[in-house]
Amino acid sequence: MAKLYPSLLSANFLQLQEELKALEKAGVDGVHFDVMDGQFVPNISIGLPILEAVRKGTCLPIDVHLMIEEPEKYVELFAEQGADMISVHVEATPHIHRVIQQIKNANVQAGVVINPGTPVESIAPVLKMVDYVLVMTVNPGFGGQSFIQESLDKLDQLSNIKKELDLTFEVEVDGGINDETVKSVIEHGATMLVAGSYFFKQDDYQSATQILKG
Ligand code: DX5
Ligand code: ZN
Repeated sequence: MAKLYPSLLSANFLQLQEELKALEKAGVDGVHFDVMDGQFVPNISIGLPILEAVRKGTCLPIDVHLMIEEPEKYVELFAEQGADMISVHVEATPHIHRVIQQIKNANVQAGVVINPGTPVESIAPVLKMVDYVLVMTVNPGFGGQSFIQESLDKLDQLSNIKKELDLTFEVEVDGGINDETVKSVIEHGATMLVAGSYFFKQDDYQSATQILKG
């Protein structure tokens, strides 16, 4: 069964504590925390002080998705504020290998992310190091966009690499995941699902969780 990480970007920020309690009750596997810097992506979202508050408000694992330039300057800070997992974009740094080492040295699970326009080949050298690969299924920056079908080919490629090299990294998908698109990503090997706008639009988070996790 795939794990589900609702993206707090679509949560009600005025009632974050209630939202976190409702997520725990619904049985999700963790929360996805989207950090945007207005440089790497054309939007600015949430950062360290909100992470600190979320950490105090829940025991759920926190999956921090850094959509920022120069992630090497910040990964330790996000680890200190309570991240359980941190993912960095291969497009955001010339030193992806070093950043992944930094994340692991901070005793946090490490993920590498690829944009829709970035090939799987670009992360081949680090696949043995990472705990998870995040395949963006929309262009990062905003919630509520449509799923990009071509992403499924990348999931197939990653599944093949896992088999061939006997690797165990998880495959996470992020963007446009809903009750319809979820079936195909799971069929193509996704093991971790991020869902923002679809999930938080539902009145009943428990049934939304069941629908997405299958
Ligand atoms: C997009 C973010 C996503 C976003 C997903 O840049 O990385 O995590 O919140 O939102 P939906 O599920 O609405 O596409
Ligand atoms: Zn994300």
